[in-house]
Amino acid sequence: MDFVEQLKSSIDIVSVIGERVRLRRMGSSGRYTGLCPFHNEKTPSFSVNATHQYFKCFGCGMGGDVLKFVMEIDGLSFYEALKQLAEQHGIPMPKRSEYSDPDTRLRAAIHQMHELAERTFQANLAGPAGSESRGYLARRGVSPEMIQQFALGYADGSGQTLVRLFEKQGFSAEQMEASGLVRRRDSGGFYDYFRNRLMFPIHNESGKPIAFGARALAAGDEPKYINSPETPIYRKSYVLYNLHRAKEAARKNGRVVLVEGYMDVVGVFAAGVKEVVASCGTALRPQQVQSIRRHCSNIIVNFDPDAAGASAAERHIQLLLEEGMHVRVVDLEDGLDPDEYCRQHGAETYRARLDQAKNYFYWLADRARTKFDMRSAEGRVAAFQFLLPAVQSLGDKIERVAVANDVAGYLGVDSGLVLENFRKAAAERSEKRLAAVKDTLRIDEKILLNLLLVDAEARRRLIPELQSAQAVEQFATRRIFRALFALEASGGSVSFAALDARLEENDRELLASAALSGETNEEILSLENGIRCLDRMRKAAYEARIASLQAQLKQAERGGNLEEAMRLAEEVSRLKSDWLPGKEYQKQRQ
Ligand code: UTP
Ligand code: MN
Repeated sequence: MDFVEQLKSSIDIVSVIGERVRLRRMGSSGRYTGLCPFHNEKTPSFSVNATHQYFKCFGCGMGGDVLKFVMEIDGLSFYEALKQLAEQHGIPMPKRSEYSDPDTRLRAAIHQMHELAERTFQANLAGPAGSESRGYLARRGVSPEMIQQFALGYADGSGQTLVRLFEKQGFSAEQMEASGLVRRRDSGGFYDYFRNRLMFPIHNESGKPIAFGARALAAGDEPKYINSPETPIYRKSYVLYNLHRAKEAARKNGRVVLVEGYMDVVGVFAAGVKEVVASCGTALRPQQVQSIRRHCSNIIVNFDPDAAGASAAERHIQLLLEEGMHVRVVDLEDGLDPDEYCRQHGAETYRARLDQAKNYFYWLADRARTKFDMRSAEGRVAAFQFLLPAVQSLGDKIERVAVANDVAGYLGVDSGLVLENFRKAAAERSEKRLAAVKDTLRIDEKILLNLLLVDAEARRRLIPELQSAQAVEQFATRRIFRALFALEASGGSVSFAALDARLEENDRELLASAALSGETNEEILSLENGIRCLDRMRKAAYEARIASLQAQLKQAERGGNLEEAMRLAEEVSRLKSDWLPGKEYQKQRQ
């Protein structure tokens, strides 16, 4: 058995999660619930399933096996989570060379290279080569404490410093190329990617350097910033600049400040507001918002006051609302960005501006006023329409109505119009939700999925039947069944996690509600019950087939197509005489 499988089978997810979350046992189904540690909630939607050794939050969607939980809750890499669990449970970890997963080894090498690079850049900045950068930082008011705190550095202009260092340390050409820190020349050999730049290391949530942002020192030097490419250890859409330093203050103060630039983070942090983060040169992504929300759900957006900053703020507000954040916005006067504002007006003034930050819809309403002609009724309605999506993405119904009314008042739009718009949208939304969830999952597919996941004998007996009868094709979960059949056919070990890993996002949600919601307990997961489900499904499919034939028959009779009607009538009577529930099983059991 693979070490990961071995580790997972010797520890219990319920006890590991139970150390971090207060769990309550739900009946005899092997299911436990509690308040989700990954988002704010008042009623428990976080569920741990002992049978499938899996956790899932039906509120925020987070879910996975025990390793995923440890990775998420402690911000660890896969390898680190493995190591931590092994150590805690006294399970000897294979030596790295034995634990020969090439991917893990590559990632470990890239981590080492980033640590070496960070130290090298720091030493450069402190040494003779760094005098120009030190002068630049001093002019911009960055103190030695902040240089230390943010591990700022300098990449010299030689283009060979890291290359030589990595070669001396014995890293392979493949590892060097994958690190993103050096590049291969067409003519052969490597050169440093960052040259003559001020270096901002980007860290993961456990504080390890995984990438760099590199600022030009001279005014005309384009582009202003060069950022690390994506690598096996750096996925841009998952990482926020400064989150590992910000998260403690974010929990304590119940808010996060989102700014646009690395320098803004440094300036705001120096002003005593440690709960500040930025994306790293890309637009914000949902995963980044979720990584904030694990720590707190209030956010203050403080982007640059130029046109680009304002339209970026507009887009980000929408995303933040969709991800369930409570959003406020700060507009700083005199066209200053957060970093400049802190230096010109002082830390105290800046903190006061944050405390007075307005709810996002006042800010959006001000934007609307500049975009539309507020003197005409049409203009006001257009402005309201512009604001509506942001209002509708509010999760809380009462808050939604209150905010909609507030916005209408602020814009001078008739509140009757608000309510009408509102009801329409709410009706559409609940229709969609109903169609999406309620209809679909039948008890038979739930029982079968659960049974097939935990019982090898049931898989052996039922899968061929299910496949030949095409019985699952009527299910919303048909793609899940097909993936399960493929998994079984490939000879892989069948588990909830293995199946989950083969599915697309939507099907994962379906699988979670079929298998983790706990309606099916162990007592009903027997082969006999599985066979009964199969029979019921066959019967339903059979009845549907007869009903459809009879409808066609009626149509043919009405249309005077007697030949066709005869053929259909024969088929119906043949089907009826053929059918004997359970017949196939009797055949099979003999
Ligand atoms: P800014 O130009 O506002 O940068 O871009 P800044 O951090 O405030 O730096 P200063 O004050 O000019 O020194 C905001 C962010 O956009 C990304 C960087 O992440 C930057 O911090 N950016 C900007 C790039 O990735 N590339 C660029 O060429 C420019
Ligand atoms: Mn700036």
